[in-house]
Amino acid sequence: MSTYVLGIDSSTQSTKALLVDAGTGEVVDQRRATHPDGTEVDPRAWLAAVDEAAGPLLARADAVAVGGQQHGMVLLDGRGEVVRDALLWNDTRSAGEAAALIEEMGGAEASIEEIGSLMVASFTASKLRWVRDHEPENAQRAAQVMLPHDYVSLHLAADGTEAFTDRGDASGTGYYSTREEAWKPELVELALGRGLDLPRLPSAPQEVMGYAAATTGNGGGAAIAAGTGDNMGAALGLSLGPGDVSVSIGTSGVCAMVSDTRPGDASGTVTGFADATGRFLPMTTTINASRILETGRALLGVDHEELSRLALASVPGAHGVTLLPYFDGERTPNRPTARATLTGMSTSTTREDIARAHVEALLCSLADGIAALEERTGTAAQRITLIGGGARSRAVQELAPAVIGREVTIAPDGEYVALGAARQAAWALSGEGEPPTWGISGSRVVGADPTPEVLEAYRVLKERTADWG
Ligand code: XUL
Repeated sequence: MSTYVLGIDSSTQSTKALLVDAGTGEVVDQRRATHPDGTEVDPRAWLAAVDEAAGPLLARADAVAVGGQQHGMVLLDGRGEVVRDALLWNDTRSAGEAAALIEEMGGAEASIEEIGSLMVASFTASKLRWVRDHEPENAQRAAQVMLPHDYVSLHLAADGTEAFTDRGDASGTGYYSTREEAWKPELVELALGRGLDLPRLPSAPQEVMGYAAATTGNGGGAAIAAGTGDNMGAALGLSLGPGDVSVSIGTSGVCAMVSDTRPGDASGTVTGFADATGRFLPMTTTINASRILETGRALLGVDHEELSRLALASVPGAHGVTLLPYFDGERTPNRPTARATLTGMSTSTTREDIARAHVEALLCSLADGIAALEERTGTAAQRITLIGGGARSRAVQELAPAVIGREVTIAPDGEYVALGAARQAAWALSGEGEPPTWGISGSRVVGADPTPEVLEAYRVLKERTADWG
């Protein structure tokens, strides 16, 4: 009889739950439920969503783990009640507070030394500081701070379970040391002006942290693994090894490399997170990714298939048309107030060229992310795997190897964060030294003649506009 594990992705937009065969990694059932919109959300909405999506599957699972959106601040009082809505990773109100905390820590280098990354508005610590300064009564009431995945995991656990997290998600809080592999409670105090209870950290990535209240088919509560942040979950789901890079083209563009060494980048381009296996997950995150394609599509009044057809009918470099795609401002590079710039148009410029410029702009920003990872880790990227909604575009698939200058693997459509959580759950269940080996069938490796001139033109425009905002 097969053993099943449940992997949950509590993402910004929805909860996805996959019931997976622990032996093979085959997905046997899946459900989803949506989350409310916004960058400030009542975290109890995620509990309702996990009940709806995962509830009916949990009874069939022997182990479960939750992957979740990174960084969000869930504040609870002494009785475990929610103090205020959670502030999410994409809520930028605490940008000034992040800058103040960097200064109070002693500068950019000190921030890298203390937490492994340069503090930014996404990180939980900057949100705590915002609460201290804008909502002192909430700051006083708070007794406990958690990440979104911790809050959802605790909801699944039997009453009396102590809150828990993992080093991967902890490394995005701004009060965890990737060097010491431990919480830095003094940084919570620095941020909020007082200490808070922090979730328990596992002593090994495959530790069982608790048991679900629900009864499984086997008569006991499913074992609950530590869970992790969504990007760490995706790396587990894709079975990435050291040097492998995942390029996720969603609302944001995330390039992440599994690394054996602890990265540190005081410029803030690469964040130095931990992963969910005991290694590290240096990462670049852009604000503009699949929306670049969406904007091109809307400007030209076509659907995505037609945008691809147009783009592929132009030539490398789009006859001199170059787009710097910072439509919504940008985080990598740090140009929060920037806007997009389109250059090089002539009276001969065509719709095909405009479409091409949009696709190339997206790929150039990702190629820059991969280059930054290689530079900061001193490791050449091994396998580069494209995932996410934007990776479904035919033009992105065909042009990626040309712009990035290397073969890329196109992963089949899948819920890799939830799959990674399931893999962690199976790992906890087995208690082995390594996670189970699960193959991904249907991946395609694509190559193309490199077109380095495209990235060159993009970088020139990026340099030229450096002081534009
Ligand atoms: C990573 C980040 C995002 C969120 C999205 O630093 O902010 O990728 O994890 O869920």
